[in-house]
Amino acid sequence: MKVISLFCGAGGMDLGFLKAGHTIIWANDNDKDSVETYKKNICKKFNLPDNHVVLKDIEKVDTKEIPDGDIVIGGFPCQGFSVANPYRHVKDSRNKLYLELLRVIKEKKPKYFVAENVPGILSIGKGEVIKMIMRDFKEAGYKAQYKVLNAANFGVPQKRMRVIILGTREDVEPRIYHPKPTHSQNPKTTVDGTKLKRWLTVRYAISDLPDPGEGVDIPNHHGTKHKVKVNGFIGNRATKWDEPSPTIVGRGGGTGGPVIIPHPNLHRRMTVRETARLQSFPDDFVFEGSISSQYRQIGNAVPWPLAYNIARVIPKK
Ligand SMILES: C[S@@+](CC[C@H](N)C(=O)[O-])C[C@H]1O[C@@H](n2cnc3c(N)ncnc32)[C@H](O)[C@@H]1O
Repeated sequence: MKVISLFCGAGGMDLGFLKAGHTIIWANDNDKDSVETYKKNICKKFNLPDNHVVLKDIEKVDTKEIPDGDIVIGGFPCQGFSVANPYRHVKDSRNKLYLELLRVIKEKKPKYFVAENVPGILSIGKGEVIKMIMRDFKEAGYKAQYKVLNAANFGVPQKRMRVIILGTREDVEPRIYHPKPTHSQNPKTTVDGTKLKRWLTVRYAISDLPDPGEGVDIPNHHGTKHKVKVNGFIGNRATKWDEPSPTIVGRGGGTGGPVIIPHPNLHRRMTVRETARLQSFPDDFVFEGSISSQYRQIGNAVPWPLAYNIARVIPKK
C-alpha cells in the first residue's frame, strides 16, 4: 500500500514498512541531518526519488502538497510527552504536532494509520490526553485502539516500550489489530501453538564489534567521550551482556546531547554504530550529521523489526 510518512526521521519505521512490502510515496521531517540520512539510505536502497522526502516544518506543509496514500504513519515527537522530560505538561507546545498528524489524517482520509509515542503519553493529565487523542480519531472517522508494545518482543535486542495507535477508516475492511509477539523473555511461551524465540541480547547485537580506533573501518563506529559512571540513574546503569539493552533514547533529560548507555565492558559508552545495532539498523545504514545528531536520529527511531511486524497486519492491497 502507498504510505505517507510524517516525522520520518532517519527512517526506522519506514524501513520496516518497506521490508513488509509497502511503498513510501511521501515523507517529511524538519531535521536536515535526518532527511540526508533518509535520502542516502531509504531512497537510495529502495530506488525512491530523493524528492520523496521533504525537508520542511509540517506546520508549513499544505495538505495539497501531499499525494494521496492508503496509510499514514507517524511517530510524532515524544519529547513534550516523555517521562524523561521533567517539564512535560499538557500545554507543552510540541504536543500540538500530534494535531498536525490529525490534520493530515482528516484531510487525506487514508484507509489506515499508525501513530507511535512513548508510554508517558498514557499518564499525562492523568490519562486525559490519550482519551482526547482517541476521541479525536473517532470523530475523524476511524476505529482506533492503542497498545504498549515492547520492541524486545519483536526481535529487537532492546527493551523499548512504545505506545502504538492503530486506526482503520470506518468504511474499510479488515480492521487492523496489534501484532502478536514473536520473541519472549521466557522461551517456553507460545502464541497460537508456536513457541516464541528467546529475546535477543546485547551480546548478540554488538559482541563482534571491535573497540573503535585506528584501523577500524566500520561506519559511524565512533562515540561520545562522556565518562562512564555507574550510579544507578538513567544512562548510568551497568549494561548487561545477556539481556536486551535498556531503551536507546534520542535525548537527555536536560541540556546537552542524548544520554548514551555504557558499553558492558564499562570502560566507555556505546558508539553510534553500537546504538544503531541495538536499534536493529543494518551496518550499511549510515547516519549523517554530527556525532550527537547521529545518536539522536538513532534514539528517535522505531526499530524496523517492530515497524515490520506492525506493517504486516495491514493488507498489502
Ligand atoms: C520520534 S522521531 C520519529 C522517528 C522516525 N519515526 C523513525 O522511525 O526513524 C520524531 C521526528 O519528528 C521530527 N519533527 C519535529 N518537529 C517537526 C516539525 N515541526 N515538522 C516536521 N518534523 C518534525 C524530528 O526531527 C524527528 O525526526
